[in-house]
Amino acid sequence: MTSVRILLAEDDEIMRITLSDHLQKNGWQVDEAEDGRQALEKIKTEQYNVVISDIRMPHATGFDILEALQKAAVPTDIIFMTAYGSVEDAVDCLKQGAHDYLIKPFDMDDLIIRIKRILEMQTVKARFIALQDCCQQFHKPIIGSSKSTQDMHALINQVAASAATILISGESGTGKELVASAIHYNSPRANGPYVRLNCAAIPEGLIESELFGHEKGAFTGAEAKKTGRFEMANGGTILLDEIGEMPLNLQAKLLRVLQEKEIERVGGTKSIRVDVRILCATAKDLADEVKRGTFREDLFFRLKVIPLVVPPLRERRGDIPELCDHFIAELGQGETAITLSKDAMDVLLSYDYPSNIRELHNIIERLLVLQPGETIQPWNLPADLTADVPQSSGHSLLLAAAVAQAEKSCILRALQKTGGKKSEAAKLLGISRKNLWEKMKNYSI
Ligand SMILES: Nc1ncnc2c1ncn2[C@@H]1O[C@H](COP(=O)(O)OP(=O)(O)OP(=O)(O)O)[C@@H](O)[C@H]1O
Ligand SMILES: [Mg+2]
Repeated sequence: MTSVRILLAEDDEIMRITLSDHLQKNGWQVDEAEDGRQALEKIKTEQYNVVISDIRMPHATGFDILEALQKAAVPTDIIFMTAYGSVEDAVDCLKQGAHDYLIKPFDMDDLIIRIKRILEMQTVKARFIALQDCCQQFHKPIIGSSKSTQDMHALINQVAASAATILISGESGTGKELVASAIHYNSPRANGPYVRLNCAAIPEGLIESELFGHEKGAFTGAEAKKTGRFEMANGGTILLDEIGEMPLNLQAKLLRVLQEKEIERVGGTKSIRVDVRILCATAKDLADEVKRGTFREDLFFRLKVIPLVVPPLRERRGDIPELCDHFIAELGQGETAITLSKDAMDVLLSYDYPSNIRELHNIIERLLVLQPGETIQPWNLPADLTADVPQSSGHSLLLAAAVAQAEKSCILRALQKTGGKKSEAAKLLGISRKNLWEKMKNYSI
């Protein structure tokens, strides 16, 4: 922390000088006020980390100082010093927002320790705010002004205000995660935590402890207590992504959380109340999953009270030019940026995008790497887009396409071999389940 500033308001001169000396020995910069009025003047013009103040002083009391600090909404904490006879005043001060009080005479070390704690807390708060700002930057805007996208915006704003559970569905890469974060950051919980859990990217056996946490020794390997995502999201929102991948036994537990608003840690005995808004996202058709018996019907009905369907890109082609501009600006810098020729744009506008906006994003990203600074022509675009456009250049693109083709067929073979079991297929391929899941998404498997 940069230099720490303390204001000391005390009308007893000897007391004031003694205290001031001690505080300065800690390397803190101390200003002194001889009475309440002087203290009020000082806090008008200076910013302090901590004010240490007597309660009863001539011209203005400690209460007045506290009130002035609160009105100014500065991040200053105040500690009161009070004589034994007026403890009730001190307690009143605490109720009104003072940080602490000490009864005179007090131990100097005690005061120093309390100040250090306040300073630590202030540092933590400042870091937290900085981090929060940083996270808000991850809250990316939803680009597009086609009719469907505008309707979606309107629905997002409408549901954001409520506390309802929302089921966000849509094909892979349509922007479901983006929609979920938009709901959180437009909701009254925007300043609370936003926590997400991808049910597909975590080994099945670990999902429960990820969600609800566990007590020390709950199972082999549980060496320490762990806080689950639900507890982390307390006061905010949780996104259960790829909810269709949640194992059946956990679906029952989730239903209980939705109904009771309570969770239980793995290996725990008591219920913990949580105040969490739940958003779910899925690329699967949950109604189908219900029919197949892999998704609980009661949970499905509970979740689909407010369904939000994110349309595929081919149903809102009007967004394509805007999305291209956005991705070029986001991913390209200065000279490396690209321009799309009209012919290339025509190809982009007529393609069907099985992996939706993620696919368009990847196309632009690839072009920026392979054709930096150039005007893109139809033959610079990936082969799938231009099946009937003659390929005149771009060997590197052909190589990339060949590698991708080989990778895709390996994955398909592994999945065939394991009867569609992803964990086993990942093992066969020598990659993690998460990695497999990402690749399947990229190749629209
Ligand atoms: N309207 C949009 N504006 C800008 N970027 C978008 C938009 N929609 C999606 N994207 C981008 O496309 C990519 C895919 O979006 P996202 O991860 O939200 O999709 P998803 O629906 O969750 O996909 P999946 O089902 O595969 O998980 C992300 O990089 C996201 O930032
Ligand atoms: Mg997603």
